[in-house]
Amino acid sequence: MHEIIQELERKRELARLGGGQKRIDAQHAKGKLTARERIELLLDDGTFEEWDMFKEHRCTDFGMADNKVPSDGVVTGYGTINGRMVFVFSQDFTVFGGALSEAHAEKICKIMDKAMQVGAPVIGLNDSGGARIQEGVAALGGYAEVFQRNVMASGVIPQISLIMGPCAGGAVYSPAMTDFIFMVKDSSYMFVTGPEVVKTVTHEEVTAEELGGATTHTTKSGVADLAFENDVEALILLRRFFNYLPQNNREKPPIRPTTDPADRIDMSLDTLVPDNPNKPYDIKELIVKVVDEGDFFELQPDHAKNIVIGFARMEGQTVGIVANQPMVLAGCLDIKSSIKAGRFVRFCDAFNIPIITFVDVPGFMPGTAQEYGGIIKHGAKLLYAYAEATVPKLTVITRKAYGGAYDVMSSKHIRADFNVAWPTAEVAVMGHDGAVNIIFRHELERAADPEARRAELIEDYKERFANPYTAAERGYVDDVIEPRRTRPVLIDALETTLTKRVAGPKRKHGNIPL
Ligand code: HXC
Repeated sequence: MHEIIQELERKRELARLGGGQKRIDAQHAKGKLTARERIELLLDDGTFEEWDMFKEHRCTDFGMADNKVPSDGVVTGYGTINGRMVFVFSQDFTVFGGALSEAHAEKICKIMDKAMQVGAPVIGLNDSGGARIQEGVAALGGYAEVFQRNVMASGVIPQISLIMGPCAGGAVYSPAMTDFIFMVKDSSYMFVTGPEVVKTVTHEEVTAEELGGATTHTTKSGVADLAFENDVEALILLRRFFNYLPQNNREKPPIRPTTDPADRIDMSLDTLVPDNPNKPYDIKELIVKVVDEGDFFELQPDHAKNIVIGFARMEGQTVGIVANQPMVLAGCLDIKSSIKAGRFVRFCDAFNIPIITFVDVPGFMPGTAQEYGGIIKHGAKLLYAYAEATVPKLTVITRKAYGGAYDVMSSKHIRADFNVAWPTAEVAVMGHDGAVNIIFRHELERAADPEARRAELIEDYKERFANPYTAAERGYVDDVIEPRRTRPVLIDALETTLTKRVAGPKRKHGNIPL
């Protein structure tokens, strides 16, 4: 018996060695951890239960029958993060460059299926050269099996991808269908076609880093939600991020007890909005002053900076924050910001996370670039997402809420539960200058002193609309509040709305403008 058990341990040792010490050393030399080291850092100590450690590929072409490594390039299983169950796969670059074979895909599918059954999130640590070239179509089939499961799991269990090495070709589409993509700076990249193909087809010279590195995807493309300095930082912050999320769509996110008083007022908020309506201020200052302990986990901070999204807590309850950022493009909505916020709102709605929206929006961004780029359809994504969302929706208008953007940003009319305005709010069809130029054009043309008359008309218009009371008269905002009371007022509203239930119409699914 003793020998049989020793044999088991020997087999395990072999599997743990993956592609061998030389390749492990090469992985370390690149500043990367191995697949198993990553799992150890991600999960609570000693909680990882590995599945399919002895699984091997079945390929016999190109001498592969004699080239088998137990685990076949991906470590899979489950464990806990701060005591909460999670399923994990971690691709092992030391084994065939982490390339995906049919067997490798089966291992990923197995944990995804189980995660769906038990209602636990899936985290994928990606580090792979793509489809296992020796297997050809069997590997492609494997990818498609994973893709199908990504789609079936969407909105049922949270799915998170951490890209820690190459992720190229069709392989990018599995992470793309997960809820969040994080990347590691300098060691990870994602692209549909690599620099060589790009050079051949478009004659552009570009490095892998420029084409699909972490900086590119967290600034230009918006594909990735965050970039981390290295593997260790990425895994530690992923643990922190995980704490905001529920296990599945039937559960609520965990409550984290806080010492931050629910009735805390912040006098400095009374002077946050500058007297001059054209002067910017940092909306993040409002967010950190209102949420528990000033703890805001921002997503996509360097992409579409005119809108701010991320998770925070109010009296321990996870909330999704969406806020126009007056510091960038005056906080207007454009294509990128609409897509960024729209997808975030849909995640929150799918996973029972209330949404708090801070509004200071002068409208949609004008211009040919936006119109040709399809702002009509892309802006509609955010509108659709908000209107469709049935989680508690709480809205605070701090300053401008103009035009269609007023409607879009979680207005009463699209079923927000609780809408308040600061006394500095201006709810109007457009800014006063533009409004006066249009509706009084003929009068201004005839006026003896057009400038003096314009100034008068602007003052009139401001008096009528550059305040929250016209909207309050109609019940479009539920109350006008002192800025300092924003936190207690939001916490009260959250408590009141947490039990909200809304039934939508019976249908297969809506048709969000894609
Ligand atoms: C089999 C692979 C592999 C692959 C790498 N390896 N990619 N084996 N299938 N796709 C092996 C290498 O042979 C090598 O084996 C080891 O992994 C490490 O690779 P290196 O090239 O030495 O490492 P590095 O220099 O770091 O380069 C990494 C790389 C490169 C950039 C990922 O290996 C590469 O370009 N691979 C091919 C990428 C690719 O074209 N994949 C197919 C994409 S199409 P040894 O034994 O020497 O250690 C695709 C379609 C998916 O994925 C479609 C889904 C719908």
